[in-house]
Amino acid sequence: MPLNGFSPRVIIVYHSGFGHTAALAQSVFDGAREGGAEVTVISAADMTDADWDAVDSADALVFGSAVYMGNVAAGFQSFAEKTGARCMAGTWRDKVAAGFVNSGAKSGDKLHALNSLAIFAAQHHMHWVSLGLTAGWMSAGGSEHDLNRLGFWLGAGAQTDVDADPDDIHPADLRTCRHLGQRVATVTRQLVAGRLATTI
Ligand SMILES: Cc1cc2nc3c(=O)[nH]c(=O)nc-3n(C[C@H](O)[C@H](O)[C@H](O)COP(=O)(O)O)c2cc1C
Repeated sequence: MPLNGFSPRVIIVYHSGFGHTAALAQSVFDGAREGGAEVTVISAADMTDADWDAVDSADALVFGSAVYMGNVAAGFQSFAEKTGARCMAGTWRDKVAAGFVNSGAKSGDKLHALNSLAIFAAQHHMHWVSLGLTAGWMSAGGSEHDLNRLGFWLGAGAQTDVDADPDDIHPADLRTCRHLGQRVATVTRQLVAGRLATTI
């Protein structure tokens, strides 16, 4: 396969009750597109048969959720629980995975939700991709406009005031999600190239 022209298939599956996490999913989409991937965004609450076929054939899945009651939202967990048969069959084995979460509080126990996403990916025998950014906003020279301003490593973490409009997501969080999308596209391309090389 000529890898120069190869576009990995990346799908973002997210749950957003009020549109804030959906805006972040769009930034992951933009980043993955910039990274050369063929990208689709799917709402976990509205999966069609065609959507299930698409996730089953994707090279990478990026999971996203609003944080509700200290964990991924029920809408995301409902999607996750529908994948039990795929989990047993290993349908998603060795796909790339990554995640992003968004909460109202600065911490909001986002790490707990990211852990849930990473464990979900591990149950599917996927390869989890970290955020790949140094923590921002942690020195006198730092600011809330730094990439990874909230200092996550496992995935992207965003904070949105509970009374904010979905158009008012913090720009640094949008850029951080964009970075995650780019990184997933790059890592997926590397993994596919590596598989080809080792097969040869
Ligand atoms: C039922 C519910 C539970 C929530 N629980 C948390 C929480 O545990 N921690 C937190 O920081 N924010 C919490 N929030 C705030 C949301 O995470 C926040 O408003 C987020 O931006 C919503 O994203 P969405 O519009 O994509 O659903 C909660 C909101 C709702 C509606």
